Amino acid sequence: MIPAKTIDDILSVARVEEVIEDFVALKRRGVNMMGLCPFHDEKTPSFTVSPAKGIYKCFGCGKSGTSVGFIMEHENLSYPEALKYLANKYNITVEEREVSPEDRAVLQLTDALHIVNNFAAEHFTKNLLETDEGKAVGLSYFKERGFRQHTLDQWQLGFAMSSGKAFTNLALEKQYNLEHLQKLGLSTQYESDFFKSRVIFPIHNLSGKIVAFAGRMLSKDKNQPKYLNSPESEIYNKRKILYGFYFAKTAIRKADECIVVEGYTDVLTLFQGGVENVVASSGTSFTVDQIRLIKRFTDNIKIIYDGDPAGIKAALRGLDLVLAENMDVRLVLLPKDEDPDSFFKKSGQDAFSKYLDENAKDFIDFKTTLLLSEAGNDPIKRSHVLRDIVSSIALIPDAIKRAMYVKQTSSKMEIEEAILIAEVEKDLQKLKKEQQQQYHREKLREDRNNFVTEVIVNPEDGQVEMIPTTTLPKINDEHQERDLVRILITSCDLMLEKNGDVTVHEYLIPFVEENIDFLANKAYKKIFEFAISKYKASQKIAFKDFIHHEDADIRDTAVDLSISKYAFANWEEKGIFLQTQQMPEENFKKDCYESILRFRLRVLKKEINELEKMILENSDEDKTIDIKVLQQLLNERNEIAKELTQIVL
Ligand code: CTP
Ligand code: MN
Repeated sequence: MIPAKTIDDILSVARVEEVIEDFVALKRRGVNMMGLCPFHDEKTPSFTVSPAKGIYKCFGCGKSGTSVGFIMEHENLSYPEALKYLANKYNITVEEREVSPEDRAVLQLTDALHIVNNFAAEHFTKNLLETDEGKAVGLSYFKERGFRQHTLDQWQLGFAMSSGKAFTNLALEKQYNLEHLQKLGLSTQYESDFFKSRVIFPIHNLSGKIVAFAGRMLSKDKNQPKYLNSPESEIYNKRKILYGFYFAKTAIRKADECIVVEGYTDVLTLFQGGVENVVASSGTSFTVDQIRLIKRFTDNIKIIYDGDPAGIKAALRGLDLVLAENMDVRLVLLPKDEDPDSFFKKSGQDAFSKYLDENAKDFIDFKTTLLLSEAGNDPIKRSHVLRDIVSSIALIPDAIKRAMYVKQTSSKMEIEEAILIAEVEKDLQKLKKEQQQQYHREKLREDRNNFVTEVIVNPEDGQVEMIPTTTLPKINDEHQERDLVRILITSCDLMLEKNGDVTVHEYLIPFVEENIDFLANKAYKKIFEFAISKYKASQKIAFKDFIHHEDADIRDTAVDLSISKYAFANWEEKGIFLQTQQMPEENFKKDCYESILRFRLRVLKKEINELEKMILENSDEDKTIDIKVLQQLLNERNEIAKELTQIVL
């Protein structure tokens, strides 16, 4: 358990925009900040952060929450875990008991796996720095390659001993779970060590946790793979990880560019040499997930290929994706037989950067050059190259960019521009058709989910019929309730002038309390019950009390309700709202009265109905009193209806 005081401390310092910026590049837009949503694929930002409200919301996928909620969702953590993450970020001490072996078993699996990997990483660094074998073999190897102590420490580089069981034995002795060790690929099925006589490169995820290891062999043994990598696990999906991203992300944002190299050592050498915006795809070709990861930080990718063109053509295949994601990608081929590591060491940072600047080509240019050099003068091969390039150009979403590439390709391949344009157009039509079909499929699915339908099975022929239901009274009530709760949450401590010095809170609560059973929605009811209890205890209540509430129902609903498309739209930028209407925040008084009235109207209608029924059914009793009451209710109803139309007008 984390003490309430600590939770308060954490929540008061963890600014939502700061927390999110560790993962998403945000740009200021009026009072809000916007970026690309980390929870779904998108090309234009709909992920919105409101520093003033302390919340985020994606208008694309609908995800929303607070700083804590973001960490829970993004890092797949529980509420207390997310709080601990934030405490750590802001150097707040959370007093907690030591993790005992019994507790360890209870910890969530992913948590446990991270702990095991941490233990392994510590073990490997100890081997490297403190054992004779580690120093003689591993450390001297790293030093020979030019890695300074600071680099070794920062990247937690290590060494796996040649003896085959030391690590696994120690881990088991310390009560680490054998199954976990095997899952993570640290121990084999025979309970011996997976990594032997290798230098170790831990692989970190976006938040700096170790999710896997790579071990490089030191001998020249041709029968062994040069690198051994941890298998995929609950915490390691290699398609989603880029080596070095955790360390590079700040620099990537600052430079507005991400440099991608092939190898672990390339990353280390460049990073140590001052080029910090560098990551490695780790030998495999790029995946969409990796590209999207980068896109959250920058649109500009520079890919450096080792100077041996053999493998490049295969690597290019995956790169059409980058074009479709509308990113600016530049490619550089290093001089023959060089990789970034060797070339950087040879030339130094300035010459290295200069080489990149001078030799970086855009994707289409790079591809055309490469393919043409292979095709030579063979007309059939050249026409294949043309087809290939055309299909790449068609993937670029931006029409102006496409036109530029058409021009460039036309001169490079000595083909008339008009022909190229026609070819690209054909491809575009095809793509468009595919997209439309996709869109219709999705729309259809959505419609099915939206409409309440009734299923009728014909008893004679067994045919099933879907009947759309047209009456949706529940939704209207739901809307009203929504408004009421929204006002309570967002404007609770604002003052209403009309009734003297009362807050919205004081005005709403007594009224709703009388009719609380009218709230059909469970979460709304909970929210009001919470507010009522505070009210009865004469405690003040504020927006943050709802969005940070311990009950997830209350928390999530509060966040969700506090955001309207409206409040987040960039009205000022669009120049619309000033002439038409006020921002909802300034409208809260009107909203407040109106909601209460609507709610009251609903209560009245129900009472009127019941009374009418009673009067009609009990034919022989004296009904004068009932009729009087009914008349009063009807009068009140009419008054409210009148007032409502005035407010609405
Ligand atoms: N790789 C791998 N497994 C292998 C070989 C390579 O995972 N058996 C990946 C590693 O991420 C490696 C990258 O491919 O870093 C590039 O391979 P290579 O150029 O052979 O290695 P370098 O990183 O250059 O390593 P070194 O400089 O130490 O030779
Ligand atoms: Mn190398």
